[in-house]
Amino acid sequence: MANQFEVVLEVGGEGGSITLYGVSSENGWRFSRTTEESALGDIADRPTDSLVRKSKVVDSWEEALQLVQRYPWYRLSPRKVHPDFAAKVWKEVVNRLDWMDHGRDLNRWSRVCFGDGGALGELSLLMKKSQSTVILTGAGMSTESDIPDFRSKDGWWRNIDPTTVATVDALKENYSLFHEFYQMRIENLESRVPSGGHYILAKWEEQGLIDCVATQNVDGFHQAAGSKEVYELHGSIRTIRCHDCQSPASIDEFVAGDRCSQCGGKLRPNLVLFGELLPRDAWERALAAIRQADLVVVIGSSLQVSPVNTLPSLTSGKVAIINAEETEQDEMFDIVIHGKAGEVLPKLDEVLG
Ligand code: APR
Ligand code: ZN
Repeated sequence: MANQFEVVLEVGGEGGSITLYGVSSENGWRFSRTTEESALGDIADRPTDSLVRKSKVVDSWEEALQLVQRYPWYRLSPRKVHPDFAAKVWKEVVNRLDWMDHGRDLNRWSRVCFGDGGALGELSLLMKKSQSTVILTGAGMSTESDIPDFRSKDGWWRNIDPTTVATVDALKENYSLFHEFYQMRIENLESRVPSGGHYILAKWEEQGLIDCVATQNVDGFHQAAGSKEVYELHGSIRTIRCHDCQSPASIDEFVAGDRCSQCGGKLRPNLVLFGELLPRDAWERALAAIRQADLVVVIGSSLQVSPVNTLPSLTSGKVAIINAEETEQDEMFDIVIHGKAGEVLPKLDEVLG
């Protein structure tokens, strides 16, 4: 059974409406216009094949736009945009409507294209306009690499009391549990790889769309995906040192449960335990970048751990958050997108492309 024609783009105004239909097949999409706009402005019923046969059918997006080009369709009120064409339609609209004097219209277009109250379109415009964008990531970036975060329903701290493993006291008084927890996280990491979102951020840095990534994550996935300017605010689980004499040691020695070869002290990963100071250099660079940023985008963090959770409020620029769940700080953000990084970042990337 031939696939049904679907509405790809529908806009309306007092004088009538314009619809672009499309039908997808294994050879891609074909597009046509309704051949009749009734005087009442209601579109003709869904075109049956005969109607379509009369109207021109084209099979490229560029030619499809030609079919509606005679009208300033982007100035009419958007009614429907097919999700597969949201980014394409949005880009056409943005090229024609300047944000300054068409803010409301663009927001309406962004709502119809992407849902979520128009936030994704708005964020794409801010990113394009921004001279300096800083990304601040949390564990929600790495759940896409199948690594648990800490506070959502399957997070580490749902089953383990962090004070029993993620503090200096735990290291001193219950080293076997401390060691078991970080050995398990290190071994768990061996079979994980950066996610699509990590690679998109690395690409945006290369394209000059973002300046740097400040991360609370210790997995090193931003660097592994190609990001160059990465500030690891909570250190790294990928390197080891002696807690007593600070001598470096290998991951293998830590996993094997060895003691420090220099002083016999306890080995630990170079990540920040609760109550410890953040690495000075990473903190100062992230703070300086955020202070002078036009835009700070938080991705995948509950923003419950200080001092990192104060960073977004320290910028003089705009702030946006992309997070799977609501956070206590959502109110302070200019743009809030509740969604998974693995879904939002590719859409954003397509719109920015
Ligand atoms: N896309 C977007 N957001 C996601 C995704 C995803 N795929 N998966 C989870 N999230 C969201 C969760 O809803 C949660 O709000 O990411 C957030 C992760 O929050 P936390 O688990 O609290 O992680 P994070 O904010 O990075 O924690 C900060 O706490 O325990 C310490 O040192 C640890 O660096 C960590 C710090
Ligand atoms: Zn030592």
